[in-house]
Amino acid sequence: MALVAPSILSADFGQLAQEIVSVSSADWIHVDVMDGRFVPNITIGPPVVRAVHATRDAMAPHMIIDCHLMIVEPDRYIDAFADAGADVITVHAETCNHLDRTIQAIKARGVQAGVALNPHTSEHVLDYVLEECDLVLVMSVNPGFGGQSLIERVFPKIERIRSRLDAQGISAHLQVDGGVKTDNAWRLVKAGATVLVSGSGVFKSPDRTQAIAELAAARRPLV
Ligand code: DX5
Ligand code: ZN
Repeated sequence: MALVAPSILSADFGQLAQEIVSVSSADWIHVDVMDGRFVPNITIGPPVVRAVHATRDAMAPHMIIDCHLMIVEPDRYIDAFADAGADVITVHAETCNHLDRTIQAIKARGVQAGVALNPHTSEHVLDYVLEECDLVLVMSVNPGFGGQSLIERVFPKIERIRSRLDAQGISAHLQVDGGVKTDNAWRLVKAGATVLVSGSGVFKSPDRTQAIAELAAARRPLV
């Protein structure tokens, strides 16, 4: 079993509240924040997170608000996203000159701290911060857009991080984001993932509740 985090990047922003309710059988709601600098796309900021938070409180109180910051200098915005209601703030290791300090700044706000790694980034950047992380996010596409195909080369990285978490007795979530679909979920969970982010795999599905259930079950398909 895995936790499922539908990404609102693939939702209809014109009716965001209803879109969140439509995926409220999931455990988390994933919010992709892009600045047009770290990634070649611009999406949303703290005011939208505040709206997600209001919807969550009113209509889906169990959902964890999971903010994935694909922005340069994320330290400048930790307070804004914490104030807006983020439960998890994940920063990219590639954007942090002082990753340990950034993790501490997130945790000081009472928010869970995640560190994301681009497909090309070695898990060794986590060597001296892993025990401080509440979540590790392995990007399985190059970040910036929904609807891309999962890069197969991430599997050994997921396995290596899983081994290290287990060996060190660290209970951090291991999240995978990008190209996650019902047909590859079982392989990701087998490799060690505990949280599956899925944008198009949920929001473009004809039956979102079923897609979420299949992702959570992460069963090997019968062929
Ligand atoms: C990509 C984002 C993802 C994206 C995933 O940069 O971080 O969260 O929404 O979308 P899919 O599941 O469609 O690949
Ligand atoms: Zn994301």
